[in-house]
Amino acid sequence: MRVLVVGGGGREHALVWGISRSPNCEALFCAPGNAGTALLLGERGLGGNLPVDAEDIAGVIGAARAEAIDFVVVGPEAPLAAGMVDALTEAGLLAFGPRQAAAELESSKWFAKEIMREAGVRHAAGASFSDPGGAHGFIDGTFPKSGQPPVIKADGLAAGKGVIVPGTMADAHAAVDELLGGKFGAASATVVVEERLSGLEASAIALVDGETVLPLPLSCDYKRALDGDAGLNTGGMGAYSPPGFMDPDAWSGLVESVHRPVARAMQAAGRPYQGVLYGGLMVPIGESGQGGDAAVIEFNCRFGDPEVQVLLPQLRSDLLELLVACAEGRLETVTAAWSGEAAVGVVLASGGYPGAYETGKLIRGLDTVDDDVLVFHAGTVLDGEGNVVTSGGRVLIVVGQGADLATARERAYANASRIEFEGRHYRTDIAARELS
Ligand code: AMP
Ligand code: GLY
Repeated sequence: MRVLVVGGGGREHALVWGISRSPNCEALFCAPGNAGTALLLGERGLGGNLPVDAEDIAGVIGAARAEAIDFVVVGPEAPLAAGMVDALTEAGLLAFGPRQAAAELESSKWFAKEIMREAGVRHAAGASFSDPGGAHGFIDGTFPKSGQPPVIKADGLAAGKGVIVPGTMADAHAAVDELLGGKFGAASATVVVEERLSGLEASAIALVDGETVLPLPLSCDYKRALDGDAGLNTGGMGAYSPPGFMDPDAWSGLVESVHRPVARAMQAAGRPYQGVLYGGLMVPIGESGQGGDAAVIEFNCRFGDPEVQVLLPQLRSDLLELLVACAEGRLETVTAAWSGEAAVGVVLASGGYPGAYETGKLIRGLDTVDDDVLVFHAGTVLDGEGNVVTSGGRVLIVVGQGADLATARERAYANASRIEFEGRHYRTDIAARELS
């Protein structure tokens, strides 16, 4: 099978790595990819990067035709929300990922809430508004001044920056004005005002083929830039799997209480869901330190980045076979085996990220990494001399594995410290809360 992966981040490098191990993978391309995908595809003699933007639908279809591609895996949310899978399907190509109408589970937070209400899924209750007066009245009428201010969200896609968790009621009102005032254009022409939940976050990621649900192991990511969850929100500074605070049996319960009811509700709404259904959970933590009944705070319609970088190394089955079975609506014919080990991933970011940062910095030490440690690239390119240099905010993720989280974590950090570039920074507390 000839395969094309769309996207160029750490998630796509991990997908390319996983798919390249399939015995059925004859050729593999990544559009636009990064230095990691270029090196891997070159070394294995499978193909290479294609100079096509991940959001260029016509360009992706043209590239797929030119390389006689049989199967396209769309990585990021933006092309899914823009209808890339619809266009590929109409062009006669098999594609992994939800169609535009189904991807609204991520691209409209209010739509996701309506589906969860219909499906009876536990979620953060709230309301949506396009007029500031309505939102301000709802905040004052529903959330007592002495209590927890609500969370304010842009309804549409805002590259992970559309959620404001205000400290005070005044900040909540200001957030409404900011978002409805056009901060994210059409994406924030509607806002969602919802109750603030507390607990620990976990990512419940599954493949869904319309009906059948195939869960990946649970995982956790770290969104804030700095240790102790200080600093600004980022795309994700690290991840680990599995979360020790969740009962391993919790997953089968979540499949029944979240993923399967949502798949059914999407079918009933005439928007059958094929692809990744990623539930962002808030898990309340009891006095024993164990998690209780989780609520969904959002859905994503693609693999988590950096979660998938710690999940795929645990997979002992053929990733390509799973993705194709999902796209063909026959997930019930395949099974996924997992190592049962733990994995910890540490993101190395450019100095200044998530604010302004410089690029073009030479990366040293990639050849010093231990054999059992994986390094997935995100913002990297090859310069004219074949050196790997930085090209983005999140640059690399170093993934350690082991029988337990402590071992996996030690391996990840021992190797992360050997890779250097000017301005490099990383969090030192990924998975640390699991050690006590
Ligand atoms: P999102 O971009 O939707 O993933 O949200 C960004 C972050 O905001 C989440 O990872 C949570 O930390 C936080 N958040 C979103 N919704 C809520 C909520 N209802 N209660 C508490 N925190 C939330
Ligand atoms: N790691 C969070 C996300 O992919 O949205």
